Amino acid sequence: MTQLIDRYGRRHDYLRISVTDRCNLRCVYCMPEEGVEFLPQEGLLSYDEIVAFVEAAAEMGIAKLRLTGGEPLVRPRLDSLIARLAAIPGITDIALTTNGLLLAPQARALKDAGLTRINISLDTLEPSRFRLIARRGELRRVMEGIEAAAQVGLAPIKLNCVLLKGVNEDEIAAFLKLAYDHPLHVRFIEYMPIGHADENWKRQYLSLSRVLEVAEGAGYALSPRDSVKGNGPSEDWTMAGGSGSFGLIHPVSDHFCKQCNRLRLTADGFIKPCLYWMDELDVRPALGSRERLRALLQRAMDIKPENHEMGAKLADEAQSHVPTGRRMSQIGG
Ligand code: GTP
Ligand code: 5AD
Ligand code: SF4
Repeated sequence: MTQLIDRYGRRHDYLRISVTDRCNLRCVYCMPEEGVEFLPQEGLLSYDEIVAFVEAAAEMGIAKLRLTGGEPLVRPRLDSLIARLAAIPGITDIALTTNGLLLAPQARALKDAGLTRINISLDTLEPSRFRLIARRGELRRVMEGIEAAAQVGLAPIKLNCVLLKGVNEDEIAAFLKLAYDHPLHVRFIEYMPIGHADENWKRQYLSLSRVLEVAEGAGYALSPRDSVKGNGPSEDWTMAGGSGSFGLIHPVSDHFCKQCNRLRLTADGFIKPCLYWMDELDVRPALGSRERLRALLQRAMDIKPENHEMGAKLADEAQSHVPTGRRMSQIGG
């Protein structure tokens, strides 16, 4: 079987599929309050087209899929897509990254369709602060979503907490306690300056060394642990005696390009070989032919950069973001 190996010897077995650029929240680190111009319905790849793409990718060694957005659960009948993807030979893992708002009523159907894992964004445990960060929605519904995911047996449940200086850094201890008390994996994520000039980034960026200081100050006995199922970019820790664990995702201060195993498919049908790079390949013209799709995937390997060079790009004082051609909500993280 031809494998997806790039010029630097990295084998790719993980595809992140953005199913929509729309979202029912407006998180401050991701979208402006007024939203952005969304793709028209016909601009999105159909479920048939996504399935055709994944069939070709699976023949080249893609085994893990992650569905992202915007918010993937705003796309109707996501469970029907998951069921079709789960039936593709070679696909062994189908995960979802969601803000959790629409999760509770769908959790059972998603699991029954073949969803294997779930990552849920949760930046605060305080209802009033939720409105400050996400600008819409209600924390209660996200918590119900987390509960429902646990009840239907989705495991591990990972919670994604983007840390913002002066906004939620005072909740690090509360998130650590959540991971100590419950079988959850809390991941603290560095705020990334991505895709658009964001005047908050320089003020609110917080290095994750702060999390280890708080954990040690609170008396947790920490040990590094093997990565929690998923092979993502997270550096994971356990707390002696705790039910759950926590992780640190720090693409800004320490990048993980050497181990990168992932490709991205955007909602409008472009392969994005690197989150922080402009180059993309248009999938639509190749959709009619398995051979052409395979050749396009091979081409993605040939153009994938070795390293996103974010440090160098940000060292330029005039830069307040890394140009990627798209916003975070249009890539899916
Ligand atoms: P699993 O390991 O499969 O659980 O997933 P993940 O952690 O890769 O996925 P998730 O969608 O939960 O993303 C968590 C954070 O990691 C988000 O802030 C993403 O933007 C970031 N992230 C995911 N993939 C990459 C990547 O390739 N490069 C960088 N720099 N950040 C990434
Ligand atoms: N920096 C870091 N993480 C981000 N996410 C969205 N925007 C950013 C950003 N600028 C996270 C979301 C979600 C995941 C897909 O990406 O919180 O959990
Ligand atoms: Fe929506 Fe996720 Fe962006 Fe928040 S971070 S606005 S939940 S796409």
